[in-house]
Amino acid sequence: MKIAVLYGGVSGEREVSLSTGKGIIQALKNKGHEVTGIDFDPSKIDQLTRLKVDLVFIGLHGRFGEDGRIQGLLDMLDIPYVGSGVLSSALAMDKAKSKQIFAANNIPTAVSESYEVSRYNDYSHIARKVKEKFSTPFVVKPNQEGSTLGLTIVKEEKQIDKAIEIASASDSVILVEEYVGGREVTVPVVGKEGEEEALPVIEIIPKSEYYDFDSKYKPGGSEHIVPAKVSDELTEQLQSYAVLAHQLLGCTVYSRVDFIINENNIPIILEVNTLPGMTPTSLFPDSAQVVGLSYDDLVERFVSLSLPDKSK
Ligand SMILES: Nc1ncnc2c1ncn2[C@@H]1O[C@H](COP(=O)(O)OP(=O)(O)O)[C@@H](O)[C@H]1O
Ligand SMILES: [Mg+2]
Repeated sequence: MKIAVLYGGVSGEREVSLSTGKGIIQALKNKGHEVTGIDFDPSKIDQLTRLKVDLVFIGLHGRFGEDGRIQGLLDMLDIPYVGSGVLSSALAMDKAKSKQIFAANNIPTAVSESYEVSRYNDYSHIARKVKEKFSTPFVVKPNQEGSTLGLTIVKEEKQIDKAIEIASASDSVILVEEYVGGREVTVPVVGKEGEEEALPVIEIIPKSEYYDFDSKYKPGGSEHIVPAKVSDELTEQLQSYAVLAHQLLGCTVYSRVDFIINENNIPIILEVNTLPGMTPTSLFPDSAQVVGLSYDDLVERFVSLSLPDKSK
């Protein structure tokens, strides 16, 4: 097949996407496809349309790549692509909105509140509201971002203003969440719509205090344990929550769902990633390996799940 891989892009996660793109391009070539990589920004549209590809593999992360916008553009151009569509991508990217959907469907979430920063010039106004609702420790993060960019674990009230400033540099809406202590896990989901399956649960042991940018991407920044050493019962619960979360948002083909298992052994969902990291050493491929799916096979599976259904 003739496939274009969009990677790089203009979001805060550009560097991560460069690695994802490189891995995907190599895997597709290994599988015999005719591949063109495009370090994507809107000026590359002409190049993309001229290529007349059978499929686009979106290797972008974050804003403009993972949030439904590029998906909308490809829909309008009538070019099929791998993964979630406009609505599910946009919903998953919006942590506050997606959490409302999870909570309404009995997937446990952390107590949180979102605040529009642009309406107030003065951070102290928001800081006051935050202090009324939350007691330390709590987490301040951009509502729409990834790779832990812009996130602060606030331990003392005097950090609040700075935390709001950092989060609002990524998004005008910030999300404040109660701090969930416990074990961090993530669950890959893959499959045909309505028949999705969860892959083995991955436990993440960051070398830092939490799963920050460096733990995510520096060599040796974190340890991945697959399958996670949790009971069969908890594994099943995590996997069924992950598949449910994927389906509730209307995701397609693949996603990866982040949780923290709290002190009472309850999985608290953090978010659904519709375009999770896909370098050969990323979490998703690590888990697939355990069930005998190599990196190249996994990428090929995503491709075959994305082909337009000719029987419709
Ligand atoms: N409510 C929370 N309590 C404790 N740690 C958190 C909380 N929210 C986020 N974290 C930490 O920050 C990391 C990134 O948060 P997440 O909500 O998944 O955003 P991102 O989209 O940046 O990955 C998590 O993997 C976890 O280590
Ligand atoms: Mg995350």
